[in-house]
Amino acid sequence: MNTVAVVGLQWGDEGKGKVINRLAPGFDFVVRYQGGGNAGHTVYVNGQKIVLKHVPSGILTESVTNLMMPGMVLDPDVMFEELDAVTKLGIDFKNRLKISGRVHITTAAHKALDQLRERAAGKGKIGTTGRGIGTTYADKANRLGIRAIDLIDGNNLRETAERMLAVKNPVIEELGGDKLSVDEIYGKLKQWGEKLKPFLADTSLILAEALAMKKRVMFEGAQAAMLDIDVGTYPYVTSSGTTAGAIGSGCGVNVGAVGEVIGVVKAYCTRVGEGAFPTELFDAAGKHMQEVGREFGSTTGRPRRCGWYDAFAARYMVRLGNVSCLAVTKLDVLSGLKELKIGTGYEGWDQPGLPESIVTLGKLKARYETLPGFDGDITGCTRYGDLPVNARALVERIEKLTGAPVKYVSVGPGSGQLIARE
Ligand code: IMP
Repeated sequence: MNTVAVVGLQWGDEGKGKVINRLAPGFDFVVRYQGGGNAGHTVYVNGQKIVLKHVPSGILTESVTNLMMPGMVLDPDVMFEELDAVTKLGIDFKNRLKISGRVHITTAAHKALDQLRERAAGKGKIGTTGRGIGTTYADKANRLGIRAIDLIDGNNLRETAERMLAVKNPVIEELGGDKLSVDEIYGKLKQWGEKLKPFLADTSLILAEALAMKKRVMFEGAQAAMLDIDVGTYPYVTSSGTTAGAIGSGCGVNVGAVGEVIGVVKAYCTRVGEGAFPTELFDAAGKHMQEVGREFGSTTGRPRRCGWYDAFAARYMVRLGNVSCLAVTKLDVLSGLKELKIGTGYEGWDQPGLPESIVTLGKLKARYETLPGFDGDITGCTRYGDLPVNARALVERIEKLTGAPVKYVSVGPGSGQLIARE
């Protein structure tokens, strides 16, 4: 398939970056189309860990051109830190990274407001990453945003900074924060414009041309379907469209551009931040997942909530996101558990889809199917047939109950630890 999307089907952190990094050598382009510094795509290169937040995971593959599309938001300081880390690995990316002038810029004011609003919300907080994602997308929707192109296109950046702070500083102060100085914001906008300039391009034209030439293109989703602004567990969601459906608008390309959609799921579930989680565990199995799976946020370091695989929710997202096949990750983490469970639905809920009401979803308890566990170190398995029979049985039940074929199984963090199922 020439055009493939890799998207998360749960609450993020499924291991999309690892799958993309592994598949990247087979592609000419890797394309990010939504989200920003809230993402944390962890990839291991020669045993070294690198966390990519903005930059597409194809940056680590020398043959791949990486595009950041209009649907993204961008915190330039954070992105340049990522690029420094890539440089330290001895990887050259100068002619392989193109950023749309249409991406919206996240400033210190956006981050401060995100964090202060969360603090003020107390128990009602969303549990955001505090990276200014919602406040940047809100400015975009309100037509108040600053785009990358605005930083270099003859705008009076001091006036831009003044206008922005005239609106934001009173709110920041009201919420107990320290007001930001025009000089500081102006200085940053100016500096970012200069640093971003060599990378800016009309990426939607580059992508349209690539698609017309039948280049191999991989679309890299960030966050995941259950965090989608439209169909996720609103309001406990991120601020962008996270399903493959967002590719058309986020990139400015034909919506039919995507051939295959790979839905990435962990063999269990995790969630960071607040919001309903019907299969959440508070017992030894949940502790096992958290410890063995090292379930701490790669962007914020927060412990992730852990629970059993929710096939009912994943099935809903398979239908909604036009998912063609699955990549099941972190199967190795479940080794050693006596029994394994898969959530097949919710007690007292007989509708075919997820409840639209977050209050209803929050009250529902999952119904489970139980399978026998498996033991031993499976991280060295390179063929599907090498996996213990009970591990394969779990994968095959996930496949059946989720309603999409499992094409890949991941058994460890290294890019080599991905089994392609024949
Ligand atoms: P925001 O995207 O920072 O506004 O956060 C909104 C919700 O999405 C919070 O529950 C975050 O924990 C969650 N979230 C955002 N990005 C990610 C991610 O990349 N992985 C997992 N959860 C995320």
